[in-house]
Amino acid sequence: MPLISNLVLKLDNVCKTYGTLKAVNNINIEVKRGEVIGFVGPNGAGKTTTLKMIARLIHPTSGDICILNKQGTLQNIHKNSKNLVEMGFLIDIPHFYNLNPYQILKHIANLRNYPKEKIKQRIDQLLTAFNLIRWKYKKVKHFSKGMIQKLGFIAAIIHDPEIIILDEPQTGLDPNARIDVRKYIRHLQDKGKTIFLASHMLYEITEICDKIALINHGSIIVFDTLKKLELLLESKEIVCELIKPIPLEKKDPVLSKLSQYLSPYLEREVDPTSLKEKISYVPQEKKIILHYDGKDESRIEILRILVEEFKSDFAIESFSKSKISQLEQLYTQIINDNKEKPNLHNGKW
Ligand SMILES: Nc1ncnc2c1ncn2[C@@H]1O[C@H](COP(=O)(O)OP(=O)(O)O)[C@@H](O)[C@H]1O
Ligand SMILES: [Mg+2]
Repeated sequence: MPLISNLVLKLDNVCKTYGTLKAVNNINIEVKRGEVIGFVGPNGAGKTTTLKMIARLIHPTSGDICILNKQGTLQNIHKNSKNLVEMGFLIDIPHFYNLNPYQILKHIANLRNYPKEKIKQRIDQLLTAFNLIRWKYKKVKHFSKGMIQKLGFIAAIIHDPEIIILDEPQTGLDPNARIDVRKYIRHLQDKGKTIFLASHMLYEITEICDKIALINHGSIIVFDTLKKLELLLESKEIVCELIKPIPLEKKDPVLSKLSQYLSPYLEREVDPTSLKEKISYVPQEKKIILHYDGKDESRIEILRILVEEFKSDFAIESFSKSKISQLEQLYTQIINDNKEKPNLHNGKW
């Protein structure tokens, strides 16, 4: 008898290529029951392609995808796609025949084998949660884009699936609708559902997800809990703005003098995944960025040294701890990195 798995999904070396383009490049993840996983990355990163493979809408070029089956074990979906736990997905913009929500949802619930006697109650409950109950018998041609999107969300989960895949579910929603959707995702989370949520907006993901996968050029750059990522990227950064830029020819000598004078106060271990240097200079913004050891005494000492020992090199306009979170910076860095290589993305920017 195989062991009952606490994993719901496992991706092993999953790749998807389109011609010469590696849309998804060697993705490995393991997801436990009840986890809410956020896929975040710029447009073209490979989020939708990954979700489509999990939803079995497209095949990977190589690698294995295993999903929990109804017996409680992981099953390779390419070898056998029967008897898997129920999945629901909202991936592309939904298109509905011009019927009313009741007709549409009843039809989908039947297709998905949801118990007939429970369908009516389930439809009412979901339409109420999404503030669409007044529209139950109105044809969808009268609906706004946001209402269609919400109906698409309901259609994705009408059969109460275990695994829910949502690709940019907040697109086109007004602030109230966003709240409805976010609340409902939390409710699904409370019920122990496993959820994948992709977005190009970091904020949206950090609001909801337990674990985040940062995706770039088809690869996962980091995959960890939000708490761990925040800890890893905890801000020990000082941004020092200068009144005038450092002349180009003085930049290198000034940087080496800085590292000589400041090294006792700088961060000891700079984590390679956080992509930061202990001291850097951004000429366009006239900023020196330092990563210090986090002690208040060190910060005071650094300021004193900069003012006293570097009088002849530069004058300081402001000196502050960075306000933007490191996570945001890492994400921005990923986007900028992407923009430098538009040819890899079929010019889709
Ligand atoms: N059917 C397809 N044919 C060719 N290229 C595709 C196809 N689908 C996606 N791509 C390319 O694969 C890359 C990843 O796309 P996608 O997964 O949609 O990214 P994301 O959802 O992160 O914006 C992009 O460069 C995109 O142009
Ligand atoms: Mg996408």
